[in-house]
Amino acid sequence: MRASVLSVLLVPALAAGAGAQITAQEYEQRRATLATRLPDGVFVVRGAESPVVDYLPFYQSIGMQYLAGYREPDAALVLHKQGPSATWTLFVQPKNPAQEVWSGRRYGADSAAKATGLRARLRADFEPYLDSLLRITPRLSFHADLAEGGDTLNGDDRFLEALRRRHAGLEVTDANRLVTTMRSKKSPAELDLIQRAAAISMEAHAEAARALEPGMNEFEIQALLEYTFRRYGGDRAAYASIVGSGPNSTVLHYNRDDRYMKAGDLLLIDAAASFGGYAADITRTFPVSGRFTPEQRDVYQVVRDAQAAAERTAKIGTPWREVSRAASQVIAEGLTRLGLIESPTATYQCGTAQTPRQCSQVSLYYMHGLGHGIGLAVHDPDQKDREAIGPGSAYSIEPGIYVRNELLDIIPKAGNEALIARIAPAVRKYANVGVRIEDNYVVTEDGVKWVTCVAREVDEVEALMREPVKGPQVRDAERVGWYGALVVDPAAARPGAAPPPRACNPRM
Ligand code: GLY
Ligand code: MN
Ligand code: MN
Repeated sequence: MRASVLSVLLVPALAAGAGAQITAQEYEQRRATLATRLPDGVFVVRGAESPVVDYLPFYQSIGMQYLAGYREPDAALVLHKQGPSATWTLFVQPKNPAQEVWSGRRYGADSAAKATGLRARLRADFEPYLDSLLRITPRLSFHADLAEGGDTLNGDDRFLEALRRRHAGLEVTDANRLVTTMRSKKSPAELDLIQRAAAISMEAHAEAARALEPGMNEFEIQALLEYTFRRYGGDRAAYASIVGSGPNSTVLHYNRDDRYMKAGDLLLIDAAASFGGYAADITRTFPVSGRFTPEQRDVYQVVRDAQAAAERTAKIGTPWREVSRAASQVIAEGLTRLGLIESPTATYQCGTAQTPRQCSQVSLYYMHGLGHGIGLAVHDPDQKDREAIGPGSAYSIEPGIYVRNELLDIIPKAGNEALIARIAPAVRKYANVGVRIEDNYVVTEDGVKWVTCVAREVDEVEALMREPVKGPQVRDAERVGWYGALVVDPAAARPGAAPPPRACNPRM
């Protein structure tokens, strides 16, 4: 707290107006808010550990990123709260010149304190400090770094187990929900970082569309996308890039990205950059030959219409289920028109002989949610998940239709004979057509803003594909010199020239 003014002075990018940063004050504000919501006792969030295997990239835990913006491995942040008194301490690796030859400069406690505005101590003092606090008050609020899907055997679990062994009767409460609630409303700086991730990702998709032609391999397009992310200063791909052509366009999380593409295939690209730790999440679906076939166009238009319906519905104050319903209705009507389902509300027998169950026929082709929050995680919490879209929301809208070649073999025969016979011609006609269109939106008091304006109407997509590849753009010195989420050392500045957030001209 005391050093926060100093630490802002140490962030030269701010003075240069080089775009959003999460300032030391913003981190301090987050910690102060969390402290008021936590019970008395001890709160801990651990940073990610050094990669176990040498030379793998290091990614900070989201809790550490969110509450301190500290980027080195093996850190820990502790709050000791007693009534109005809240003492935060950051524990960090020591400076170690011999080790730094191999793994780069470390802050050490003094520089870490200056950078973050936190009281900082060495990592070796973390457990003794924690033990001394817990001996007096054996109550711990803990923020775990949960991998998506809830990995239960990670370093946090081992840490807690060891702590429980040392402190019989230790009471541990989960602080993730408190932090998740805070993360679900983004600050202006966070929204700006998301838009920069989106701007870089847009360039990557457009460049992929220009380059795409029959005979290329999916990995060439993947390489071009990820090159473009880094070329403009993105940290990395925000998630495994999905570059799925032909049958692979119908596989939701395909990421082998190694098939040779043919004229007549569709290519579904779901790929985006992370920038300053914040993710974008864009999907476009392109015809490999540069022109959609009539069948591809039929399906594509239904998906695009569904997305447009969702966009028209997505306003401040709208509950997400209404947005989702708007898209689902368009998809259901479209699938009926194409002969892929019997009616918008038709069901099929999806259970077993012992436990018969009905599922909607729509779910044979559209089996995922309409969208999700984006932020530090590509699937980030958003206020829309609990209440409604509001200022500070950032989310994706991503309807899709996936006609798998094997669909008729996947539908259980029992009880579905008539359905299978009726839809078989359409399934054959549209086989291997997988279409998803995914865009990102940020919300301020002024309303919802579309931030991923890559071509997406049929004619726009075909026109984009006729353009020549642009290649690397000349660096704009005005935009150079901006840093990651927390940089105190100008020598660490990355010279990527991130395209500025572009105002989209949404047709919604
Ligand atoms: N790229 C992951 C998703 O669209 O949710
Ligand atoms: Mn998504
Ligand atoms: Mn996606």
